[in-house]
Amino acid sequence: MEIKIFNNEKEIGEAAGSFYVDYINANPACVLGFATGASPVPTYEYIAESYKQGKVSLKNISTFNLDEYCDLPKDHKNSYFTFMCENLFSKTDINMDNVDFLDGNADPDEESARYAEAIKAKGGIDIQLLGIGRNGHIAFNEPGEEFTDEAWKVTLTQSTIDANSIYFDDVPMPHYALTMGIGSIMRSKKIIMIATGSSKAQAVRDMIKGPVTPMCPASILQQHPDVTVYLDTAAAALL
Ligand code: PGA
Repeated sequence: MEIKIFNNEKEIGEAAGSFYVDYINANPACVLGFATGASPVPTYEYIAESYKQGKVSLKNISTFNLDEYCDLPKDHKNSYFTFMCENLFSKTDINMDNVDFLDGNADPDEESARYAEAIKAKGGIDIQLLGIGRNGHIAFNEPGEEFTDEAWKVTLTQSTIDANSIYFDDVPMPHYALTMGIGSIMRSKKIIMIATGSSKAQAVRDMIKGPVTPMCPASILQQHPDVTVYLDTAAAALL
């Protein structure tokens, strides 16, 4: 793993964002796996601003996203699809026909098979962006007995519900989600992980220095050949 440490999340947004801009310019039809949550927002802001300034076009890229809530309409303000539209897609020239998302209201097994096939049909994911949960989860793969493979329906843990329920003010936060599995994430050719803040410090340490165990799902990234981790000083404090 390559570890990069920055002073704050703005610097991470500039560094990771400029990496994406250069990558997209060199590979205009690339396949990108995106993530939701607070961690990638400065990176998305940098990419959107670069588009506005005519420095990059997203019109030929294809995208997949890590996860989506179950039992929530796709266009609900708290869906992850809406999050991506608001934070990136609507601010760029991305072709929405090339945006694929897990459908949290579909049959989980059929949706998992469809997603795996769709990723394969695009030649796999070139770069998967990840955040990390306070408990070491990646996407919604929570600590557990074994590493998962393809997309599956997960029951969210209390830790995740506590972290995300602040965003839900009209409906209760869903307790289930569809998530890409650890196997689907590990098959990405490159992985970019972003973590900021002291609440992530222990999970970051476990991911990088701890044993590879499904009790810290992110620890599997030690076995991926091309991972770059962007940290602020607070998230890196226990390394
Ligand atoms: P965050 O979420 O970026 O909002 O901290 C990351 C995660 O839980 O995977």
